[in-house]
Amino acid sequence: MHYLNKTFNIGGVRIDPPLALAPMAEVTDTYYRSLIKELGGVGLVVSEFISAEGLTRKNDRSHQMLAFNENERPVSIQIYGGDPDRMDDAAAIVEAEGVDIVDINMGCPVRKIVNSGAGSAMLKDFDKAARVVEKIRRRVRIPVTVKVRKGWESNDVLPLLKRFEEIGVSAIAIHGRTRSEAYTGASDWAYIAQVKSALNIPVFGNGDVKTAADAIRMFEMTGVDGVMIGRAALHNPFIFRDIRAYVNGEAVAANEIERRIDAMQRYLSKIEGAPNIDKWKLHKARTVIGWFSKGIPHGKDIRTGLQDITAVADVQRLLDRTREQLAAA
Ligand SMILES: Cc1cc2nc3c(=O)[nH]c(=O)nc-3n(C[C@H](O)[C@H](O)[C@H](O)COP(=O)(O)O)c2cc1C
Repeated sequence: MHYLNKTFNIGGVRIDPPLALAPMAEVTDTYYRSLIKELGGVGLVVSEFISAEGLTRKNDRSHQMLAFNENERPVSIQIYGGDPDRMDDAAAIVEAEGVDIVDINMGCPVRKIVNSGAGSAMLKDFDKAARVVEKIRRRVRIPVTVKVRKGWESNDVLPLLKRFEEIGVSAIAIHGRTRSEAYTGASDWAYIAQVKSALNIPVFGNGDVKTAADAIRMFEMTGVDGVMIGRAALHNPFIFRDIRAYVNGEAVAANEIERRIDAMQRYLSKIEGAPNIDKWKLHKARTVIGWFSKGIPHGKDIRTGLQDITAVADVQRLLDRTREQLAAA
């Protein structure tokens, strides 16, 4: 049986296939997650992190970030915050939305976040981190998961993870870098393997999976239950599908440009239908289509074209033009 057939449960939630889209701020909103889900091959999608402060103070923007589409299920919403008394209230707000899983961010390395005691700063104070998680665990019925780095400055998060397991956390996702490393160096897959073998709850390994072959290598080298992918999905939204094709020994799509344009079109349609303002739509179209156009023929033309757009309709014209060029070639 190959790795993708080894599905597992988080609480009662089935993860099939055992691959997850990592939480990414300003990226994995409902539109992006729906797209990835539609393109196929992913077993869990995780939201961008949402401020517990914002949720509990009824900030509009934070509440909008809770939106999800039924096609995303199972869907996990991630929260962050430094105030233990707000985190469980925020988790209760998330649960009331009807999502499948609530995830706690203990990995964000950004200064502004850690200075408020949130994100990876939680890894500096195990007692506080355990208290936060325990309070959330008691408060909500849906499964609670935690996403961590391997430590603040050194790789010492394991004792904390064992406490999470005792508290009743349903799964862990671990990015194999410390907070100090931010995004430098490499994700430490040997440490991920150590964490996996020391815990009984499911573990997602994360960090530096760039290709389908990398994903399989991570399963092999670490024994993790699931592989979580972030940045690679920014350029190749088909990465999850490609992992399946890879294990089945199928050739990866010959029509790379066509399928990327199809993904761009789908994304554009999703954001066109969003209730957000035009400026937001334009910004999203520019950013995401810019990413999807990397590394494919005509990609540079698309990115050059994106510099001149002033409305979403221009983006549509740009895609139409690229399709015409392809048909003529
Ligand atoms: C643009 C961007 C935004 C991110 N935002 C979050 C976030 O909101 N919550 C979180 O837990 N991790 C966040 N991360 C970290 C990713 O989830 C992941 O741990 C990291 O990118 C390593 O995995 P990768 O090598 O597959 O990208 C973010 C990463 C990127 C690149």
